[in-house]
This record gives sequence, structure tokens and C-alpha cells, in this order.
Amino acid sequence: MSVRSSNDGRYRRRDIIALGLAAAGALAGRRLPAAAAASSSAAPLISRSIPASGQMLPVIGLGGRDFRDDELAELRDVIGRMLELGGTVIDTAAAYGGGQSERVIGQVLSELGARPRVFLATKLTGTPERGRYGRESFQRSLELLQTDYLDLLQIHNLVGVDAAWPLLTELKHSNKIRYLGITTSSPDDHGHMVQLMQRYPVDFVEVDYSIGNRDAAQTVLPVALERRIAVMVDVPLGGAGRGGFSLASVQGKPLPPLAAALGVRDWPQLLLKYAVSHPAVTCVIPGTTKVSHLEDDQAAGRGRLPDAAMRRELERYWDRVIARPGSA
Ligand SMILES: NC(=O)c1ccc[n+]([C@@H]2O[C@H](COP(=O)([O-])OP(=O)(O)OC[C@H]3O[C@@H](n4cnc5c(N)ncnc54)[C@H](OP(=O)(O)O)[C@@H]3O)[C@@H](O)[C@H]2O)c1
Repeated sequence: MSVRSSNDGRYRRRDIIALGLAAAGALAGRRLPAAAAASSSAAPLISRSIPASGQMLPVIGLGGRDFRDDELAELRDVIGRMLELGGTVIDTAAAYGGGQSERVIGQVLSELGARPRVFLATKLTGTPERGRYGRESFQRSLELLQTDYLDLLQIHNLVGVDAAWPLLTELKHSNKIRYLGITTSSPDDHGHMVQLMQRYPVDFVEVDYSIGNRDAAQTVLPVALERRIAVMVDVPLGGAGRGGFSLASVQGKPLPPLAAALGVRDWPQLLLKYAVSHPAVTCVIPGTTKVSHLEDDQAAGRGRLPDAAMRRELERYWDRVIARPGSA
């Protein structure tokens, strides 16, 4: 019952083969110029270290908010493809998919024999006032995920942090979890999250951040850098409107001129590269239930990332052309 590494390197050779296939698939009927596709697929996967330990994580993971039993076959392919492409981070929660997300992930990882190489994150659910807060939720997560340890256990939406903290500390000391954290997906919570980051020895925060929702860059992210807390970014693609904008409303609009230099072929990749390029960010967890979207998202974890000047240029473009199109 101990915490194990998620990086055993077994898929390296398969990755190379898979990348060739991915590049071929990416070129079929899409807008990406061949040269850009070749250069980004050949580039190594970008990874970042967790400040608390130095453990490396690939910068693009997978969010399981919408995973449900009735899509098991497609989700098996989504998770399997992520592993083939070198991704290892999967984020879920006791509450996701009406309670089905953890079960789907547990079943797929068991079938693939892939649990040891996945960085598996989930979140507590429950009512703090009822006592024993979090313990039943944690046990249920282990059962559904078919594992005896978690890489990351987080307190969902900052609910009951004071009540749950003794449990998280106990689980960490007994090696049932490797890291502990707190999450939100709303700028309204960022001030509270910062207070908690200053009060508790948090390993991770999971927070909403994107070029269309930059509040965290003024609040949570500087504190994470200062206190050496890892950052997992949620709703990076706007979360169907929950993250301050909707991907659907952006996708018909022209990409910024910088997209070509970044090897970016569409808005999801641009959004992901922007989020990953913040120096406080450890990884980003776009949610998807489709293999084609997974491949698109994973490709953003390779190749060139925007530097500080490019980030400013992208922000100007967003503010002028996307957020306020009437003033373009
Ligand atoms: N408070 C919290 O702790 C909290 C709150 C929200 C989310 N989260 C975590 O963060 C993860 C990400 O957030 P999210 O899933 O809500 O929102 P998101 O990642 O911003 O967006 C997900 C949406 O984007 C679509 N999508 C993904 N990749 C795409 C692509 N390449 N092209 C076109 N569409 C694409 C997905 O549809 P398809 O399924 O059709 O691909 C889905 O509708 C969640 O899954 C969850 O793990 C945490």
C-alpha cells in the first residue's frame, strides 16, 4: 500500500510509432500545414516538475468531468490513446459523471493494466457538518478507481477544508495519497483559495485559468510560485461556458497571426499552449470524451510555447478581436 511512480518509460517506443500515426491522422482533412504538423509531432513532450518533490508530469493531462458508463467504449480509447501519446495525468472527482467517472476510469485502467503509470487525481465529496467528512468518499474513490493509493487527493471547490485537513494529512503520512490539494473553478473563490494556500501546506491547487479568464494570474498563480505549490489548470477550454467563455463561440474566429509560429492549428491548442506557458502552471487538464479531441489537445504539449512577449501579444489579440469583436 505505497505510492508508486507514474513514470516507468515503458511506452517510449510505442510513443514514437504512435506519434507517426498521430501526425498522419492530424493531416487528414485538417487545416494544419504539413511542415508545422511534422515539427510539432516530432518535438518531445513538455513536462514540468512538481515543486514539492521534483516528480515530472507531462503538461497536458485529461479531465474526466463528463465520463459516464454509457460511453465506456469511446472512453477506453480516449484513455488508451492518451497513454500511447505519453500523457499520464487523469483528473476526476467523486461527484463527476453522476458518480460514474471514477468507475469508468478504474475499469479502463484495470483493463489496460495502466494504473502504475498514471498520475491519478480525484476529489472528496460530502457534507462537512456530518462528521467523518471525506473518509467514506475517499474509500469509495479507491474502490471505484480500483486502486489502493492516489497520487493526488483534493478538496473539491474548497468545501470543508478545515474539516477535511486532518484526514488529508493522515492519508499523506500513511502513504495512501502522495499529494494533497484544493480546487475551484470560479474566480469568485480565488481570494479564499489564496488564504488557504497561505494557511495550509498545500501541494497542489486546481484552478480555472485561460486566456479568456485571467483572474488567477493576479491572485492564485503568484502565490503558487512563491510558496512552491503545483498548479493544475481546470476549464482551460472555457468549460462549455463555465470558464468565462465558450469554445463554441471562439472556434469560428480567426486564429492570431502568432498561431503559425507556435505550430498551433486550432483554438483548443492555442488555449492550451497559452495556459501551459504560465510559469506557475504544472499541468493542464482539458476534458474530452472524444479520441480526435484528445489527440488535438495532447499535441499542444509539444513544440514551441509562447514566451512572455508572445503571451502579451496573444492577450492583446484576444481582448481586441475575440472578447470585444466590435472594437476590432
Ligand atoms: N472545481 C473543480 O475542481 C473543477 C471544475 C471544473 C472542471 N474541473 C476539472 O477540469 C477538467 C476540465 O474542465 P472541463 O472538462 O469542465 O472543461 P474544458 O476542459 O475547458 O472543456 C471541455 C469541453 O471542451 C471540449 N473539447 C475538449 N477538447 C476539444 C478539442 N480539441 N476540440 C473541440 N472541443 C474540445 C469537450 O467536448 P468533447 O467531450 O466533445 O471533446 C468539452 O465540452 C474537468 O474535466 C475536471 O477534471 C475541476
